Amino acid sequence: MSFFAERDNELNVEDVPLSRIAEQFGTPCFVYSRAALTSTYRAYEEQFGAHPHLICYAAKANSNLAILDILARLGSGFDIVSGGELRRVLAAGGNPRKVVFSGVGKSEAELREAVAADILCFNVESESEMQRLARIAHDAGRVAPVSVRVNPDVDARTHPYISTGLRRNKFGVGVEDALRLYQYAQATPSLRVTGIDCHIGSQLTDLAPMEDAAGKVVALVDQLADTGIDIEHIDFGGGLGIRYTDETPPPQTELVKMLLDCVGPRQLAIMIEPGRSLIGNAGVLLTRVEYLKHGQEKNFAVIDAAMNDLMRPALYDAHHDIRPVRNTDKPGSIYDVVGPVCETGDFLGKDRTLAIDEGDLLAVMSAGAYAMSMSSNYNTRPRAAEIMVDGSSVHLVGERERVEDLYARESRLP
Ligand code: LLP
Repeated sequence: MSFFAERDNELNVEDVPLSRIAEQFGTPCFVYSRAALTSTYRAYEEQFGAHPHLICYAAKANSNLAILDILARLGSGFDIVSGGELRRVLAAGGNPRKVVFSGVGKSEAELREAVAADILCFNVESESEMQRLARIAHDAGRVAPVSVRVNPDVDARTHPYISTGLRRNKFGVGVEDALRLYQYAQATPSLRVTGIDCHIGSQLTDLAPMEDAAGKVVALVDQLADTGIDIEHIDFGGGLGIRYTDETPPPQTELVKMLLDCVGPRQLAIMIEPGRSLIGNAGVLLTRVEYLKHGQEKNFAVIDAAMNDLMRPALYDAHHDIRPVRNTDKPGSIYDVVGPVCETGDFLGKDRTLAIDEGDLLAVMSAGAYAMSMSSNYNTRPRAAEIMVDGSSVHLVGERERVEDLYARESRLP
């Protein structure tokens, strides 16, 4: 079911026409659908059935408090990668006992904070981190639950910047080193081995690399059991891709089915850390055409959103569909859709056929994940407002930044 459908020639989010949102809150703004988010969450949840499991939403995809709140109320756990994300999850009402902490560079302060919060598990990515965590937990008089992030050395076949499961990537430890780390953890009183973890990359559109990685991790669990190290959960990470334009990622149900098959009769809880597949297609970036500019070689639609709002096209050459909010029968022209930022890389779409006039609204689709969370203030542009639609209700869940806020923490010389 689409929560972004046309009604009376106009794109709606659930029951709300986008033009009404633009009128009320201005542009650019991100518009999210609560029903879309809820339905992707439930699709995972239902497929797991009675098998013990926990969905840990990767907060980095979009860490707006309303989104974390909706997921927390659905029972979701969270995958965090910083002390900042931990605080957001707690502020949104998330349960620390459902939080896993990933990332290669957890600082002393971050580890201390997460130990004090009594989180569910630390996904440890190196020997030095394991030792640091052991010391911090010991000093706090606590026992830290640990999982080793294994780098299974498989090619996720995605953009190289978001591929994480190859030996040459900075993530995790090799299968050969994992055993040593587990033995260290097992022998250290301030650590308790609870799980194993992997994550091979993002925007994966093929199940095969995930299956390959899952097989390697399960084999390692069996090997660990043979040496007397018992694992309680396997965390298979995130990574399932979404359709931006014509990609055909496997459905969520197929991914879960594959993981259940892989684990088989073993007494292991399954965890996953989806980000994009939960929120990516639950949000759009609503923007207005400022100018139509007919150049010598190209036509440009200059819009009021820019690379600072959505940097995926500039950073990964990513494609996001761009749709006029109001549809007409007029013939379109071909435009590069560009922002006001002073860089040639500031485009949200290239060579798009659009029937538009100055002042028209456009929706940049699939902007729920890695859009707002990667936004910046480049060119001293305030971050966009964020709106959550829930049926026919509209909630402002992120105020537009004010320019004064952007330099409030700076000062002139005395
Ligand atoms: N778990 C870990 C340890 C991760 O590093 C990530 C994403 C996830 C889970 C969630 O992956 P997902 O289900 O969203 O694919 N900025 C890039 C994506 C970077 C992903 C980083 N790690 C983009 O805009 O495509």
